[in-house]
Amino acid sequence: MRSQFHWTTFDVNERLPAGWQQDVREVAANADFHEYPRTPTLSREATDVQRIPRGRVHAAHVRARLPWLYQAYRGEFLEMAGEARGERVAAAKDDRYGVVLNVQHGMTMRWECHIDSNPLTGVLFCTDHLGGGELVFAHNPDATDIAAVEQDCSVISPQAGHLIFFDGRRHPHYARSLVAESDVRVVAVMNFYTESCPESTRPAELNRHLYGDD
Ligand SMILES: [Fe+2]
Repeated sequence: MRSQFHWTTFDVNERLPAGWQQDVREVAANADFHEYPRTPTLSREATDVQRIPRGRVHAAHVRARLPWLYQAYRGEFLEMAGEARGERVAAAKDDRYGVVLNVQHGMTMRWECHIDSNPLTGVLFCTDHLGGGELVFAHNPDATDIAAVEQDCSVISPQAGHLIFFDGRRHPHYARSLVAESDVRVVAVMNFYTESCPESTRPAELNRHLYGDD
């Protein structure tokens, strides 16, 4: 039987500092935009897709420019993650992949179709949209491209200030592109770990791909 995909949503609007959306937008405008090569092992893009355009604000910049987000990841959001998971969870010790921003603008960027290596992911939606930018999760763990994901899926529409938690290890997922050239989508993505799936299980290949680790 296929495992049922589920997620937990917290509305954290009232817990976030005044002007947080504007802060995030300013930082996101300076994201590192380019065509990222597909992620080894975890990618679930069609074989002919080698690069996916999008923007990323690296963890060090998030920490420096959005300190409230970095602190929430290790504080309030961590507590919520534990509540959503029903067990003790941990934030990443390695600051390079604790909390980052993913950014899409225009109609060609999207978030690569992939599975997660970490057992719990938090996504804070930072923008609202009239359409597009939905986060789409396959029910079929064997879906190997976007078309297969779309055949049978759960769709989560971004809503600014909503923080969701999910286990994306067995449900390939991606973010649809936007439907307006002028639109910008920003999400904060957070990695969490559990006792049975600790940070030490993170694939070394992933760190080599992202950070050039030896
Ligand atoms: Fe993911």
